[in-house]
Amino acid sequence: MDEDILALEGVGPSTAKKLISAGYPTVEAIAVSPPQEIMERTGLGFNTVIKIQESARKLMSSDYKTAKEYYEKRRLLKRCTTGSKRLDEILGGGVETQAITEFIGEYGSGKTQICMMLSVTAQLPYERGGLEGSVVFIDTEGTFMPERIYQIASHMGLDPDAVANNILVGRAYNSAHQCLLIDQLFSICKDRNVKLVVVDSMISHFRGEYVGREMLSERQQKLNKYLHKLLRLAEAYNLAVVVTNQVQSDPAAYFGDPNRPAGGNIMAHACTHRVFLHRGSRGTRVAKIIDSPYLPERKATFIITERGIADVEEEDSGRSR
Ligand code: GTP
Ligand code: MG
Repeated sequence: MDEDILALEGVGPSTAKKLISAGYPTVEAIAVSPPQEIMERTGLGFNTVIKIQESARKLMSSDYKTAKEYYEKRRLLKRCTTGSKRLDEILGGGVETQAITEFIGEYGSGKTQICMMLSVTAQLPYERGGLEGSVVFIDTEGTFMPERIYQIASHMGLDPDAVANNILVGRAYNSAHQCLLIDQLFSICKDRNVKLVVVDSMISHFRGEYVGREMLSERQQKLNKYLHKLLRLAEAYNLAVVVTNQVQSDPAAYFGDPNRPAGGNIMAHACTHRVFLHRGSRGTRVAKIIDSPYLPERKATFIITERGIADVEEEDSGRSR
């Protein structure tokens, strides 16, 4: 159990127990969860919950920060390599911690492959472009392939058993289960030095379960809540969050690509960096930054090989395969 919980004002052993069994095992989880939700799950009163949350925020010092404190925190930001130098470059050096990076693309565009590659590279030392941490992979579509992890890790000269041991896979069977798995991250990430959290895909269960206009706002609210939990997690533990998203065709498309990201404005606003993937010529894949607070809209070409994600070799690029 998180000893810090007992340090919170108004929390004795019995309240601590209630909070933990209700799914709030850490100070961070208490600080960032909606008070209404904590009340419902623990049976604690409004004033008590507010008091505990204030104390939790103080402990996390998450309300106001000076610009200098922000600057210091940003300096801790790390980047994780995708395996492709070109793709890393348009991402500003790799997939960032303290942020959500969203990979969007149609079937077979390489989203899951990128996620599996990152699950290996995140474990590398900083000098090799890694985050020196372990990984949580929330798989909503049943497409996580452990064999692929073994294959990529061996090609990188790593001990595949050790790499696979550091990836915790949560198979989400529906959207409620997906949310539960995300709630559990606050304790898991702390205990296991998690530096990458993958949700592949963030949206498929939501799209499948909340059908029709009348359910749209409920769906979007829930999606929003859980994306924000992921963002807070990324900030609290200086870890990278990667989510995948599908495209949906837009019947009212203006010109060009009629496909646009699913999930509407909620996905667009909650994700820090959005990367669109599509198939290029001769089996290549093209990634394009479509929305980011500071990355320019650039494109990069990469390939998927048995080694994982890689750059297109110069001499290959003219040759057809
Ligand atoms: P959905 O989840 O269906 O939306 O697609 P996705 O974007 O997740 O696609 P995914 O990442 O699963 O990409 C699948 C593609 O990766 C396949 O069509 C192959 O082209 C390629 N791929 C996967 N494994 C290998 C491999 O070992 N070698 C090579 N050369 N290509 C591979
Ligand atoms: Mg996939």
